[in-house]
Formats: sequence, structure tokens, C-alpha cells
Amino acid sequence: MMDFLLLFCIVFVKFVAAEDGHRAWLRYAPVPDASRYRYLPSSIIALNSTKSSPVYTAGQELQQGIKGILGKQLLVNTNGTRKTDTLAIIVGTADTYTKIYGDFDEAGDLEEDGFYLSTEGRNVLIIGSNERGALYGAFEYLSRLGQANFEEDSYVDNPHAPIRWVNQWDNLDGSIERGYAGPSIFFRNGFVADNVTRVAEYARLLASIRINGVIVNNVNANSSLLSTRNIEGLGRLADAMRPYGIQLGISLLFSSPRDLGGLPTFDPLEPTVDAWWANITEKLYAHVPDMVGYLVKANSEGQPGPLTYNRTLADGANMFARALESHGGVVMFRAFVYDNHINPANWTADRANAAVDFFKDLDGKFDENVVVQIKYGPIDFQVREPASPLFSTLRNTSTAIELQVTQEYLGHQDHLVYLAPLWKEILDFDMKADNRPSKVKDIISGGRFRRPLGGSAGVVNVGTNTTWLGSHLAMSNLYAYGKLTWDPSLSSEGILQDWIRLTFGFDKTVLDTITSMSLASWPAYENYTGNLGVQTLTDILYTHFGPNPASQDNNGWGQWTRADHTSIGMDRTVKNGTRNAGQYSPAIAQQFENIETTPDNLLLWFHHVSYTHILKSGKTVIQHFYDAHYAGASAAQSLLTQWSSLRGKIDTERFEDVLFKQTYQAGHALVWRDSITQFYCNLSGIPDEAGRVGNHTHRIEAEDMTLSGYKTYAVSPFHAASGPTHSAIVTSTNTTTGTATANVTFVSGLYDIAVNYYDLIGGRASYELSINNRTIGTWKGDLEDKLGHAPSRFLDGHSATRVTFRNVTVAKGSTVRIMGRPDGVEAAPVDYVSFLPVGVWD
Ligand SMILES: *[C@@H]1O[C@H](CO)[C@@H](O)[C@H](O)[C@H]1NC(C)=O
Ligand SMILES: *[C@@H]1O[C@H](CO)[C@@H](O)[C@H](O)[C@H]1NC(C)=O
Ligand SMILES: *[C@@H]1O[C@H](CO)[C@@H](O)[C@H](O)[C@H]1NC(C)=O
Ligand SMILES: *[C@@H]1O[C@H](CO)[C@@H](O)[C@H](O)[C@H]1NC(C)=O
Ligand SMILES: *[C@@H]1O[C@H](CO)[C@@H](O)[C@H](O)[C@H]1NC(C)=O
Ligand SMILES: *[C@@H]1O[C@H](CO)[C@@H](O)[C@H](O)[C@H]1NC(C)=O
Ligand SMILES: *[C@@H]1O[C@H](CO)[C@@H](O)[C@H](O)[C@H]1NC(C)=O
Ligand SMILES: *[C@@H]1O[C@H](CO)[C@@H](O)[C@H](O)[C@H]1NC(C)=O
Ligand SMILES: *[C@@H]1O[C@H](CO)[C@@H](O)[C@H](O)[C@H]1NC(C)=O
Ligand SMILES: *[C@@H]1O[C@H](CO)[C@@H](O)[C@H](O)[C@H]1NC(C)=O
Ligand SMILES: *[C@@H]1O[C@H](CO)[C@@H](O)[C@H](O)[C@H]1NC(C)=O
Ligand SMILES: *[C@@H]1O[C@H](CO)[C@@H](O)[C@H](O)[C@H]1NC(C)=O
Repeated sequence: MMDFLLLFCIVFVKFVAAEDGHRAWLRYAPVPDASRYRYLPSSIIALNSTKSSPVYTAGQELQQGIKGILGKQLLVNTNGTRKTDTLAIIVGTADTYTKIYGDFDEAGDLEEDGFYLSTEGRNVLIIGSNERGALYGAFEYLSRLGQANFEEDSYVDNPHAPIRWVNQWDNLDGSIERGYAGPSIFFRNGFVADNVTRVAEYARLLASIRINGVIVNNVNANSSLLSTRNIEGLGRLADAMRPYGIQLGISLLFSSPRDLGGLPTFDPLEPTVDAWWANITEKLYAHVPDMVGYLVKANSEGQPGPLTYNRTLADGANMFARALESHGGVVMFRAFVYDNHINPANWTADRANAAVDFFKDLDGKFDENVVVQIKYGPIDFQVREPASPLFSTLRNTSTAIELQVTQEYLGHQDHLVYLAPLWKEILDFDMKADNRPSKVKDIISGGRFRRPLGGSAGVVNVGTNTTWLGSHLAMSNLYAYGKLTWDPSLSSEGILQDWIRLTFGFDKTVLDTITSMSLASWPAYENYTGNLGVQTLTDILYTHFGPNPASQDNNGWGQWTRADHTSIGMDRTVKNGTRNAGQYSPAIAQQFENIETTPDNLLLWFHHVSYTHILKSGKTVIQHFYDAHYAGASAAQSLLTQWSSLRGKIDTERFEDVLFKQTYQAGHALVWRDSITQFYCNLSGIPDEAGRVGNHTHRIEAEDMTLSGYKTYAVSPFHAASGPTHSAIVTSTNTTTGTATANVTFVSGLYDIAVNYYDLIGGRASYELSINNRTIGTWKGDLEDKLGHAPSRFLDGHSATRVTFRNVTVAKGSTVRIMGRPDGVEAAPVDYVSFLPVGVWD
């Protein structure tokens, strides 16, 4: 009986709530040695009783958190206008605290949004410079308790920069551009959503990582956001987020005065246009009195803007700045302005030059409440880019860095890519402006060039999915984004491990394994996608998900690799190329101008070289491509093996969810590896020294099998299909089942059998794999229901995937058969079957 009860308690305590990812890192799970914390006060005093006050929220949060973590129910007193004699956790603003309790020494050290936390006196003190700061302090205290950090100490913690925002690319119809976690929590069917429950929960998550502003709609904006009904709706969103100290902002469509207001023009220097914006801004502030400001994408990718009227970008930005100024609002003006019709035949044309070209002469011409929001690299969130040269070009303009938590070019949350190391490389990069230390992080804080404003904008794109981002492990990126906006000196590993403890608990193996997986993930992804600075090599004209290197070149988008039969890379030198290297300060320019001093990982970003160019590593460029792609794909198999080892150490729900993703990634990494290596082998004609590329001795190509009701199909792009003819098979009609059979010629033994097939949107084909009429497994082409990445309608590098059946005993001479039943437009497509001896993957 005892044992049964004990077991019951453990199970009960461990899995009280469903681990569906909804609570993210705010699970407030019990800590194993709660009794070690002897100094827990007996009540909570929150120095504000207004329900919309972040201080009030802090009181409630402390109560909830302590109950979960330490199992103690504390009362919250929110009317603490006088001192109490019992020990308490006191949370409030510095002003309120000093009025009631008298001065505290650290008051002078607090900066805007900062807080003081003391756990060493009689009371626990959590004192914010403002209400939001007090809430941050409460979350900090709970994070420490949640990690069983019971140290007694006192410290002040201030933010690195004032602007710590997230951008959501949500459309009014409820879809999200580059979102991989279901529809919007903010909008539905053209209007602001009625139900704001998830909005408040999102604000809570963001407050816990010290984010202070959210742009709720897509930078590709819609003027109907400014309709009366939607402005009222924005008021409700702001109300839902206010208790968490999160301020709402919106993206604007530049042509709204014409499109919505019915004016004949949207020229920023036209007084009627100015008046229209002033009017709409008044109206917005009537519903959202603490609106944080506007985000504007103008004259970019077909969007209207000031250039439409031959006005400068500064004229455009300042128009919004004037409307916002009296309300204390800020304009974030995106530097992502470029011409998407540039001529690929022009050797010196370069999209990477656009931001500096457009903005350099405008430095100092922006109003004080304008911040230029700069993507971290000169192109577009690629797997590796150098820091944007615009960071050191603008000296008299406030700037912010734009990062992406949503993995637009980095696997759509279906590949694990822990991004903090990538962000830190950029933030720590020294631009050497005027030969003085000029790290990007110190430029965007406003420190280096003495600017009043600055900070970060992270494109997050959470959706209605219970996991927020569509993936449990991807949440480390949101957590890390917040932590780095507050303190970019934190280590990637330290942030990650805090997140792991709060998300998965205290098991040392779990901590070590997820740490090892996460830290390997960006290098692995870079290895099996695009390395040496060539960009991600994904399909830039379609989904931005799977491989398609040819899509980069010969179009007006300027995301070029300039790959031909003999050579590859963008020549961005001053001496013979696009002169982009010359946009950096002289010390950096010289480094990138010179091939000897350009690091290998940015070689093809700055230089156009022969495939046989020898890298600093001693390898040729082409052999490095092959080796890195094999190494990266192999690392992806290891991510799966590592995660699999955690069975039983993590709740079943999250274990299985992540296992499914890692299995998918392991398969898709092979699709990437084979596509990219085939493509460049074909283009250069240079074989892999190690004899791997195009040589797959464990595979039976589907097109070589005996087909009935199936026909061969030439896949495009060719490299998305295995075999000398780059073909797959599809059923002959979209209603009748096809079969493909072959005799197994491999030696008898134990095999993992992998089937590579294509999973399209628009149907859920069913499949059966059998050996000698014994069913080995069945599956469906239904990944669109299970994974968040942008789907494809075609047989290509996005839809190519694999299913694996492990430990199958196969005798030589057996018959392997695949039966495929088509559904809708999905004609049960199959590429190949692989018979893999234990420990081999191919
Ligand atoms: C209490 O919170 C409300 C709402 O945030 C705020 O307006 C008020 O100033 C706060 N009161 C004090 C004494 O801080
Ligand atoms: C103050 O709060 C306590 C506990 O919440 C409550 O018992 C008491 O009545 C309150 N006093 C006033 C004056 O509101
Ligand atoms: C609002 O949304 C929440 C969370 O998704 C849900 O639990 C609740 O039932 C919804 N409320 C209404 C009235 O639909
Ligand atoms: C905005 O314009 C409308 C009419 O177009 C007018 O009724 C309203 O008073 C104006 N509001 C402000 C704040 O100027
Ligand atoms: C735009 O401005 C430039 C320089 O001021 C001028 O030469 C040009 O004619 C103008 N174009 C139009 C369409 O107004
Ligand atoms: C090539 O591009 C450069 C840089 O944008 C431009 O200055 C030059 O005029 C272009 N050359 C031609 C022939 O279009
Ligand atoms: C210099 O640029 C030309 C194109 O204008 C290119 O064909 C050539 O390869 C480049 N030379 C070197 C040494 O990079
Ligand atoms: C990436 O590829 C390089 C070059 O082959 C290799 O040295 C490195 O270990 C690889 N790392 C991962 C994580 O794949
Ligand atoms: C193909 O790979 C096998 C081993 O997997 C190797 O023995 C053979 O030499 C390779 N063929 C070529 C042409 O490199
Ligand atoms: C398998 O082998 C048998 C006998 O060797 C042959 O009759 C049959 O056609 C083969 N089947 C396939 C699918 O190749
Ligand atoms: C959440 O996303 C995952 C992975 O993309 C998917 O399997 C699951 O069905 C989604 N769940 C909900 C409730 O949207
Ligand atoms: C079946 O294929 C035909 C021709 O390709 C197509 O017109 C039809 O829409 C497909 N049927 C379904 C249910 O997708």
C-alpha cells in the first residue's frame, strides 16, 4: 500500500498537467529539494491593487509560481500601504517602496525597466524602477527558484537597450507569413480576434523574458487594420497585454491615406496626408493610450513608400514620427529596402549594397523618435552572413537589429537549429568604426554612437499551436532572444541550460543531451545546407524550406551565388567586384577585400573562386562542400540518436513529439545532402574524392523496380530524386493503387529499411511496405497534419522525406514490395528504398 501511494504521488507530482508545451518555460514544476529553501517569507505584498498593473500581476505570478515550485500557498496582500511585521516578499516600484518603507540604497542604480532583487535580508525585495521592472524581478526570482537556485544575494539588473520588441507577421485573415505554428492568435477573418486569452498568455511569456513591445501585424501591412472596428480591437489586444508591461505597436501600409482614407495621394510631404496620419494616430491613442509606435516597411519588395513620390526614406519616416511624437511613440523604419529587379548579368550589381546605398546620405536626417531597423546581415536571414555594414554607417541615427526566431530559411521549426550562437556572432562582431571598438551590440544599444534609442526586433510568429512555435525545442530560441535583448553578454550555453531546466527539469542526462544537441544544431544545419558563406541554398522562389540552389541565380532578387561550371561565389571586392566590402570601415573592408584574410566560412560571400580553390583548411572548395554535407547530415542522425536516448527521462507526450521531429530532420538532412552534393557534382563535373556522391550502394531506385499501376516521373529539380536518371515513380492514375516490386540482392541480415517518398499538400496517400508478402509497415503522406513547415505541391526538395522501419530481418532473394494508394493530387510518389545494415545511413 505504501509503495502504491508513493508511486501514485510521484506520478501525480511529475505529470500534474499535460506537457503539451503550452506552459513553455513557465511550468513552475516542483523542485526536488524545495525544503533546502528555508527563508521563504510567509506572504506576498504587491504594492499596487490595480488589476492592470504589472505590479499586481507580479503578486499573482509569485503566488502561482511559489505554489507550483515549492508547494506553498502564500497570500497576496495588494493593499500594503503600511509596514508589516511578518516576513514578506515585497514587490513594487522604487517610488512606492520608498514612500512606505523608506529609502533603499540601490535606488540610484536602477535604469528604466531595471530591477533590484534581494534574497538575503529578512524580506525578499523585488523593486522595479517602474512597474514593468518589478514584474521582471518577480519572474527572475521565480526562475531562480524554479532552477533550485536558493542562493542569498542582492543585485541590480538593468537592460542593455530600451527597445526589446517582437514582430509578428500576422495577416488580418488569420494567416501568418513565415509562421509555422498554425493561424494567428491576434486576427481572424479580417478582424482583430474576439478571444484574447492566448494574447494575454503570450504577453506573459514575453514579459518573463523582458520583452516590452509587440508589433502585432505583418510588415506587409493592410490598410483595413485602421478601420474603426479594428482600432477598437487593437484596444482590446493592448488591454490584454498591459498587465504584463507589454505595449502594442502596429505595422502600417504606406498608401493607407489613399487606400483607406480616399485621398488622391499618399505623398509624405502633402499636408493633407500628414493630417490624415495625425488624425488616425489620435484615434489609435484614444483606444491604445500606451501604444509603443509604428513599424514601416516601405519601398521594399513592391510595397509603396516615399520613393513613389520621389521623396526620401527619411521624409517618409519623419511623417510618422511627427504623428507619434506628442504621444511618445517610436517609428521603427525598416532598412530592408532594395530593388528586386536587378540584372544578374551585371557583375557589379549587388542587393547586399542596397541598405547602405539607400540610407548613407540620410544619416542625421531622421527625427529623434525614428529607429532604423536593420536585418543582421545584408541579404535576408541566411544561415551565415556577415554583420550588415549599415550598423557602422549610421552614426547620427538610432538603430535596432532585426533577428528571426521564426526559422524562415533555417528549417521552419522542423529542423532543430538553436540560434543564440548565430545571433551572438553578429552581436559580438566588431565593426571597428573609426578604428575604435564598435561591437554591433554596443551600436544597437545606442552606446557606441551616443544615440537615445536602440535595441532589437525579433520576428517570432507564434501561432495557435499549443507549443507556440510548432516545436518544443524551438522555444529555446524565443527564450534566448529575450535574454539576449536584455543582456547580450550572456553565453549561449548558459541561456540554453536555464531554459532546459525550466522546461524539462533537473535530470543531468537530459540537460547534457539537449545541450549537446542544441549546440551542434546550427553548425550541422549550415553544413548540410549552404556553407562557406554561399547562403542557405534553399528555394528562394517558393517555400524557403528545402534545397534548390539553382533558384538563387539568374533572377532579379539578387540572392545570387554566381555558380557556373568552374567557379562560385559573389565577388564583393572593391578591386574587381560589387564593392560591397568597401561599405565596411577600413579595417574590416581590408579584411574582407583580401581572400587570405577572409575566413573560410565567409569565403563565397565575398569572393568568386574556382571549385578547386584551396581553403585555409587545405581542402578544395568542392571537396569541402561534399565533406561538410556528409558531416552535417551525419550530425543530424546523431541528434536523433541522442534524443532517442532520453526515452523514459522525459514525459511521453513531449518525448514522442520531439522524436517525430528529429526523425523527420534526420531524413530531410539526407535529402539536403544528396541534393546539394548532386547539384554541384553535376555542375562542376568534379567527383567526390571519397566516392560517396551519387554512389548509393544500399539503395534500390523505385524506377528500377517492376512497376504495376506506377509509372516513372522525372523530378524537377533533378537533384531532389536519387539515381542516375533522377526519377521517382507516381501512380498511373489518381484513383488506383500501384505496386513496385524488386528482388533483394543484398546479403541476408538485419536491416533498417528506409523508403524515400514525397509528401505533397493536397492529398494523403497511403503506403504499405512488405517483404515476401509480410507487411513491414504502413504509413500515410500526411505530414501536412503533423509538421509545420510550408508544404509543397510538387515532387521536390521540400516534399521529399523518408520513413524508416528498424531491425528487419531480410533474406537475400526476398521480394520487396511497395504498394501506394493515391489520394487527391498525391499520387503516392516514391524515390527509393534503402537497405541499411545496422549503424549505416544512406
Ligand atoms: C498602480 O498601477 C496603475 C496601473 O498600472 C498605475 O496607473 C498607478 O500609477 C499605480 N500606482 C502606484 C502607486 O504605483
Ligand atoms: C488589505 O488586504 C488584506 C489581505 O488581502 C485584507 O484582509 C484587508 O482587509 C485589506 N485592507 C484594506 C484596508 O483593504
Ligand atoms: C478562448 O480561448 C481559450 C484558449 O484558446 C479557450 O480555452 C477558451 O475556451 C476560449 N473562450 C471562448 C469564449 O471561446
Ligand atoms: C479625424 O477626422 C474625422 C473626419 O474625417 C473627424 O471627424 C475627426 O474629428 C478627426 N479627429 C481628429 C482627432 O482630428
Ligand atoms: C525626382 O527628383 C530628382 C532630383 O531631385 C529629379 O531630377 C527628378 O526629375 C524627379 N523625378 C520625378 C518623377 O519627379
Ligand atoms: C551595374 O550595376 C551597377 C551597380 O548597381 C551600376 O552602377 C551599373 O550602372 C550597372 N551597369 C549596367 C550596365 O547596367
Ligand atoms: C573580375 O571580374 C570579372 C567580371 O567582370 C570576372 O569574370 C573575373 O573572373 C574577375 N577576376 C577575378 C580575378 O576575380
Ligand atoms: C561541419 O563540417 C566540417 C567540415 O567537414 C566538419 O569539420 C565539422 O565537424 C562539421 N560539423 C558538424 C556539426 O556537422
Ligand atoms: C561506391 O561506394 C562503395 C562503398 O560504399 C565503394 O566501395 C566504391 O568504390 C564506390 N564507387 C565509386 C565509383 O566511388
Ligand atoms: C525476382 O527473381 C525471380 C527469379 O530470379 C524472377 O523470376 C523475378 O522476375 C524477379 N522479380 C523482380 C521483381 O525482379
Ligand atoms: C501543433 O504543431 C504540431 C507540429 O507542427 C502538430 O503536430 C500539431 O498537430 C499541432 N497542434 C495544434 C493543436 O495545432
Ligand atoms: C486526379 O487527377 C486529375 C488529372 O491529373 C485531376 O484533374 C483531378 O483533379 C485529380 N483528382 C483529385 C481528386 O485530385
